[in-house]
Amino acid sequence: MIVEALREIVGDRHCLTDAALRASYETDWTRRFSGSAFAVVRPGSTDEVAAVLAACASARVGVVPQGGNTGLVGGSVPRGGEVVLSLLRLNAVGDVDADAGEVTAGAGATLASVQAAARSAGWEVGVDLGARDSATIGGMVATNAGGVNVLRHGPMRRQLLGFEAVLADGTILRRLPGMPKDNTGYNLGGLLAGSEGTLAVITQLRLRLVPRLSHRAVAVAGFADAASAVAAAARLRRELGSVLALELFTDPGMELVMRHAAVAAPFSARRPVYLLVEVGSDEADPTDGLVATLETLDLGDAAAVATDPGGRHRLWQLRERHTEAVNAEGVPHKLDVSVPLGRYAEMVERAPMVVAAVAPNARTIVYGHVGDGNVHVNVLGPASEDEAVDDAVLELVLELGGSVSAEHGIGVAKVAWLVRDRGAAAVSAMRAIKDAWDPQGILNPGVLFTPRQLG
Ligand code: FAD
Ligand code: MLT
Ligand code: ZN
Repeated sequence: MIVEALREIVGDRHCLTDAALRASYETDWTRRFSGSAFAVVRPGSTDEVAAVLAACASARVGVVPQGGNTGLVGGSVPRGGEVVLSLLRLNAVGDVDADAGEVTAGAGATLASVQAAARSAGWEVGVDLGARDSATIGGMVATNAGGVNVLRHGPMRRQLLGFEAVLADGTILRRLPGMPKDNTGYNLGGLLAGSEGTLAVITQLRLRLVPRLSHRAVAVAGFADAASAVAAAARLRRELGSVLALELFTDPGMELVMRHAAVAAPFSARRPVYLLVEVGSDEADPTDGLVATLETLDLGDAAAVATDPGGRHRLWQLRERHTEAVNAEGVPHKLDVSVPLGRYAEMVERAPMVVAAVAPNARTIVYGHVGDGNVHVNVLGPASEDEAVDDAVLELVLELGGSVSAEHGIGVAKVAWLVRDRGAAAVSAMRAIKDAWDPQGILNPGVLFTPRQLG
């Protein structure tokens, strides 16, 4: 019955029940999380999304919203028996308002397509990340994605000026005119940012854009240990107002990137830890300032600077391609966490040790957005369902006063840790919001909270 209703709404071609056609929607990017879907539906309009949700609500079938399926905490794939609601057909990008620096895009538009539209009008999207060709704007708001420019422009929530979304019962909420000032009650769009598909299905977004920079320079520098790299990052940020990104990676990670992504080393010297810094300005060229500060750091041969687009891209590849290089080695346990900057070096040094204590044969690759206190701990070796290394790393994070999720979200991977991190009172306040917006528990059951019986 429900399948017939779904076919009627989206058309036969966009209601996939055949196992081979469903497969790519059922496993996440890391291959750690998968489940089978009752069906995959691909609506082509907001009204179709509303009709699909109303049909699923009356049949009491769970719904997993899915964008580019690049999420890294298992929240975009079914646990078993839900309908996967793919937003990829809602990919229209509207005209950029070049005076206001704003754009409206469908939830299924990729970040790269919105970036292209923004750039053609002389603007830029404030958030950038390595999955730009597949990650969708809707998924990025749903996860409140961070990426490499948070220290300059903030995460997705900060870019949000308006939204259109559909509640679990099919009700459409719409507030799309871009108005930076809009104090009319609760900020419902802000609530959707980071809701991971548990409150509503996002169908359109209005984003603020940031000025396009005319001068950019990227440097990679090598250090003897994490503490000196973190100290250098803090200094670069303090002394250069033009810093756009500050990224950290280690030699074992760079070795994997060079092997799997065929990227050349930045300089002949090898160091245990590397820092990538990008500066940018639309006024004076910031390169001289960057070089002058690097010179005071006593780096010897372990520094490279690029100002041309090709050279900058090559240096960025060393950091950006860690995710795929790690994936090429196996199915990783990915722990995206943040700690206060003063504990960052300790986190980088101790994460491999706490992993080794519970899984002596595991390999730990650490990298991250050091400017935001964000560390990505990747562990290769333990079976997907063995959570001992996850627990060990997250226990360390709480000991250091950090957060168990910096930018990827809770998904299904960290449900057990949400109460530990936020406390019972905060989680029951979140649960009250969930129950008010989605009383039957249709949307993304099992994400953020332990699943309840569908109501
Ligand atoms: P999906 O993976 O499809 O979904 C993610 C979550 O959002 C799920 O819970 C899903 O149910 C929900 N969702 C998706 N679309 C909607 C919608 N329209 N309405 C309601 N809920 C929805 N993340 C970062 O924060 N920073 C990074 O630097 C970064 N780099 C990455 C690099 C690589 C190579 C990869 C593979 C991933 C990276 N990620 C990063 C993770 C990922 O790209 C982000 O989480 C991204 O925001 C997910 O977008 P998506 O469209 O793929 O969403
Ligand atoms: C990154 O910063 O590279 C992304 O968040 C993805 C990852 O953690 O691998
Ligand atoms: Zn990241």
